[in-house]
Amino acid sequence: MKPSRRSFLQTGLALPTVLGSVPDLAGAQPVTSPAMKDSSFDPWVEIHRENLRHNVQEISRRVSGRPILAVIKNNGYGTGVENIAQLLEPQSEIFGFAVVKLHEAHTLRDAGIRKPVLLLGPFDEQNLSDAVARDIMPMVYSPLGPALDKIAAQTQKPLPLHICIDTGIGRVGVPYHQAAPLVRDLAARKSLQIRGTMMTFTEDPDFDKEQLHRFNETCASLESSGIALGKKHAASSFPLFQHPDAFFDMVRPGMAIYGIYSENEFRQMGILDLRPAISLKARVIYVKKLRKGDSAGYNRAYMAKDDVWVATIPVGHADGWPRVAAKGAKVRINGDLYPVIASVSASHCILEIGSEEKVKIGDTATFFDGEPGSRPEDVSESCGASVYDLTMHLSPLLPRRIL
Ligand SMILES: Cc1ncc(COP(=O)(O)O)c(C=O)c1O
Repeated sequence: MKPSRRSFLQTGLALPTVLGSVPDLAGAQPVTSPAMKDSSFDPWVEIHRENLRHNVQEISRRVSGRPILAVIKNNGYGTGVENIAQLLEPQSEIFGFAVVKLHEAHTLRDAGIRKPVLLLGPFDEQNLSDAVARDIMPMVYSPLGPALDKIAAQTQKPLPLHICIDTGIGRVGVPYHQAAPLVRDLAARKSLQIRGTMMTFTEDPDFDKEQLHRFNETCASLESSGIALGKKHAASSFPLFQHPDAFFDMVRPGMAIYGIYSENEFRQMGILDLRPAISLKARVIYVKKLRKGDSAGYNRAYMAKDDVWVATIPVGHADGWPRVAAKGAKVRINGDLYPVIASVSASHCILEIGSEEKVKIGDTATFFDGEPGSRPEDVSESCGASVYDLTMHLSPLLPRRIL
């Protein structure tokens, strides 16, 4: 079979280079996934235990010791849902975990996680029955009272749940002006326990105030009629900086736990000292000199204005490195930052090294980590990729190394 242009280029790049050089692997760390089949040149994700611990303590300080429901959806924001839960569970500040996909909730229980798990995502009746049997709490916002009662009767134990109220994000949650009958119905059922009541901000500073007002009014009216709403929670990372009046009984951050500021302006505020706990790295697989007028990338996206050294790194958009990285992101090798040029293809990107051959095959290339200039927020600022895309889009197939 005639190989396609892309498959030819990819094998052509990787194999002779890898076989023709022996990288220095002395510093290689043990990996946490079955990664022994990965090439030592392949990208990997590092998770920094100490930075995670620090971030959790920082958040706890900010919220005066309120419990933290850690959002670890979407493969733990790239860290691996099982890895992150196992690292966070021993910290007393962590109350429990929130995920969106049902399979992630089951993965947590399979991994022996014992703290509360809140399922923010959808389920059908059978899913719910299986989940409840494993102490996975549903987030409820529709008239599921009879179905929940039935499941509680099967398991012969009270069924804990959280109620989601939509105060304006329009995504999931019972609209605040229709919440009262639903909450009353759930509260009246002896087999059910309302353990929490929550909302999500739109993160529009002005409208957030209105949302908070709606939530407070709705909750106060229900509480005044004797309904216990459990722990009220609303604060993801953004409100940790912007809305101390919305910390309620528990906070619900994701990005801040991973040590990344969800908005760049939060970096200078001095409110939280966050240390990135997730890095993306790989090794240089090829270094060569382009002559003036040579091109690089599909569609000749880059044209060499002069003779220039370039380095190829085996990280592409299929690994989670966004295509927009070619619009200004820089990658660090041996302490220097080099721009991503041409275009990011599925499995490779190219760096402009300059007039001197300053890097060599096998050198470690850091796409982001906790160093100034290489933080996820720096990458985000330089090319416009969101920090959420940088972390959550990391391929689950990449090996994870816990440091
Ligand atoms: C309902 C809910 N709560 C909390 C979070 C955590 O958000 P962040 O990562 O911005 O802290 C998310 C994430 O999008 C969410 O969907």
